[in-house]
Amino acid sequence: MTPVIRAATGADLEAVAGIYCHYVAGSTATFELTAPDTAAWANKLAGLQEAGWPFLVAEQDGQVAGYAYVGPWRPRPAYAATVEDTIYLDPAATGKGIGALLLAELLDQAREAGAREVIAVIADAESTASLVLHRRAGFTEAGRLERVGRKFDRWLGTTLLQKSLN
Ligand SMILES: CC(C)(COP(=O)(O)OP(=O)(O)OC[C@H]1O[C@@H](n2cnc3c(N)ncnc32)[C@H](O)[C@@H]1OP(=O)(O)O)[C@@H](O)C(=O)NCCC(=O)NCCS
Repeated sequence: MTPVIRAATGADLEAVAGIYCHYVAGSTATFELTAPDTAAWANKLAGLQEAGWPFLVAEQDGQVAGYAYVGPWRPRPAYAATVEDTIYLDPAATGKGIGALLLAELLDQAREAGAREVIAVIADAESTASLVLHRRAGFTEAGRLERVGRKFDRWLGTTLLQKSLN
């Protein structure tokens, strides 16, 4: 069944926390070392809602299959129209095109909310699917940072991708 893409609510956050925890604990897709709990996700959702930025979930067969949001790229006010996107799918939901649906809707809603430039920060290991997903959505490479993170006893770099919404 085609997933429904909709705004996240507090009732989704336990599933969101569970999805992110999987990648924090077992992958370098995120540089986070300790997974935030549901209360921390509630703060995040409230902050993004207050700022007017989209936080979406993909729901399939009554389950949260993934989530995506945009938030400020940098806190200084001159960066106000530049956002960073985040997208994570339940491992069982990857490889089915759900990422593309979720990202397309996220970018539409980010544009409507006033975003002009979107940055994706992609860790350089285990992230081929994310690179492919973002490039297909029109992101282009904006630079690389080497050895900026350390996880699982390895130094890791990031690739920055950028898309203009104008
Ligand atoms: C990144 C993510 C959101 C992509 O969404 P998705 O719906 O799973 O996307 P897909 O699995 O269809 O992958 C997109 C493309 O990458 C390709 N791909 C996936 N893994 C690959 C790999 N290891 N090598 C080469 N290509 C790969 C897929 O084949 C697909 O191309 P296709 O449609 O031609 O087959 C999802 O895989 C995910 O949540 N991954 C883990 C978390 C993560 O990395 N988040 C992004 C942080 S920046």
